[in-house]
Amino acid sequence: MEHGTIYNEIGKEKIDELVEAFYKRVSEHPELIPIFPDDFTETIRKQKQFLTQFFGGPPLYVEEHGHPMLRARHLPFTITPTRRDAWLSCMSGAMNEVQIEEPFRSFMFERLTMTANHMMNTPEDEK
Ligand code: HEM
Repeated sequence: MEHGTIYNEIGKEKIDELVEAFYKRVSEHPELIPIFPDDFTETIRKQKQFLTQFFGGPPLYVEEHGHPMLRARHLPFTITPTRRDAWLSCMSGAMNEVQIEEPFRSFMFERLTMTANHMMNTPEDEK
């Protein structure tokens, strides 16, 4: 489907800007700093590829890295409900900053929330 994908509606630039704004917040978030690398270059590059494909653009992530298997790729990191909330709050702030408009914002945030829920792998008290 060429028309009607989020990617086509908001455009490549917006997704790239969103990812930059997002990781700037992640890199300053006390709950998230401990599990992310100091250098975000590669993380940013992969997330641009992933979100491009996640929102209906070309399959850049799968072409370079194969099947995302996102839950498995997140298992090495302790992801508690608090860290999920922190991730989503960075994303929400980034969406405001780069001005993703409705109805795209709600649709995107809902899909990201579902995926973030799926990434949790540790109850709060085992942190
Ligand atoms: C990689 C944390 C949710 C997509 C990572 C990495 C961490 C992380 C620590 C490794 C970074 C690196 O070494 O470069 C989290 C936390 C989440 C979360 C705390 C909270 C629930 C999500 C969600 C998505 C996502 C919702 C997608 C919608 C990715 C991708 C990568 C990644 C594509 C790169 C995987 C690769 O190495 O190829 N995440 N993540 N993450 N995350 Fe998340």
